[in-house]
Amino acid sequence: MTRADILIDHADSVATCRGPAPRAGRAQGDIAAIPGASVAAWRGRIVAVGPADEVARSVTLEPDAVVVDARGTTVVPGFVDAHTHVVFAGDRREELTRRLAGATYAEIAAAGGGIVRTVTATREASEAALVEAALPRLADALAQGTTTCEVKSGYGLDTATELKMLRAIRTLAARQPVDLSPTFMGAHEIPVEYRDRRAAYVRLVIDEMLPAVAREGLAEWNDVFCESGVFTPAESRAILDAGKPLGLRPRIHADELALSGGAMTAAAVGAVSADHLIHVDEAGATALADAGVVATLLPAAAFFLKLGRYAPARLLIGRGVPVALATDMNPGGGFSPSMPFVIALAAFGMGMTLEEALVAATVNGAAALRRSHDIGSLEDGKLLDCVLIDGTLADLARIGAPVVAGVVKRGRLVAGRLGSSRV
Ligand code: NIG
Ligand code: FE
Repeated sequence: MTRADILIDHADSVATCRGPAPRAGRAQGDIAAIPGASVAAWRGRIVAVGPADEVARSVTLEPDAVVVDARGTTVVPGFVDAHTHVVFAGDRREELTRRLAGATYAEIAAAGGGIVRTVTATREASEAALVEAALPRLADALAQGTTTCEVKSGYGLDTATELKMLRAIRTLAARQPVDLSPTFMGAHEIPVEYRDRRAAYVRLVIDEMLPAVAREGLAEWNDVFCESGVFTPAESRAILDAGKPLGLRPRIHADELALSGGAMTAAAVGAVSADHLIHVDEAGATALADAGVVATLLPAAAFFLKLGRYAPARLLIGRGVPVALATDMNPGGGFSPSMPFVIALAAFGMGMTLEEALVAATVNGAAALRRSHDIGSLEDGKLLDCVLIDGTLADLARIGAPVVAGVVKRGRLVAGRLGSSRV
């Protein structure tokens, strides 16, 4: 017998998503579901998952254990949102209106909107203000089932503000339940004051920012916006290579607005994840597959930016690239904190099955953050991070209906209407 202090009891189905990570090709849709199942954990880690009667026989509940009646629900691993810009100051909601009136991302940026607008506001904000502004956004994500979230800097574009953002992320990690994976993104845009001397900005990122971030141990990742008009493949490669000896592993914004060499650069530097990929071609997909890069797709960004197309998920899956999904929460084109919305867009916009989208939002998101040892699936020894969905997987697509009935983080029920009873 094993001790347990929480039991998620008798779900209609538990989509364990157990097995190898990341998953590619045909395995992308393997959710390893068990009907009529329970999950038990002790001190945040799973000790049993399987048919309800087997789990009941194999665990002894502690005197004050929490029991969640999961009948009528489908239990899935907590969502891993592997790409967000959730820390920022200021407000760009009026850009939505301009986009609805027909303005493009490039036109809005050229008119002083976009990233540089958020940079101005973020430079002026205190670290405490950044934390306070991000807390409700993370709470919204948690309520939608996100239990781990990557968060980028990149609205500072000077050393002091980049460090301020990363310190805010560190504070946020300690102040609310969602686990955070911090990314340095000094190469999010060329700041206005460096527009006519971009090489000097690349040097600043490499010579000053990266070492300062590494010295304080503020980030796990180093990300670059590799895109026509932003950072070239050569600049991106120099910045990503420079982070490696400092322990900052590469990830990249690739081929979002045009085919810009992003996927090829990701493969060449051995990026852990290449993100967006709306314009990736067959050669790029093959290169990603060969290099073992996870493709993190952000269909909500394509939706809110009105790009008129989504990343070619079927091409990527067909070529054997593991696909992950994320929200891209940000003040411009990342308007929704909802992984269920992203899953629905993946299914109805990109031709993925709901099972493939679930693996993308859990197992493969965890792999995109190199956290598969701890999260992404419901199996013995991993954290009990899970979401109880009213009904079936398909109910995730009932956008706007309160289908997320419960969210469990590290073995604690932290969101959702589902009450629990004490033993
Ligand atoms: O992932 N592509 C670059 N960065 C963000 C947008 C950030 C912003 O508009 O503030 C993205 O889409
Ligand atoms: Fe982004």
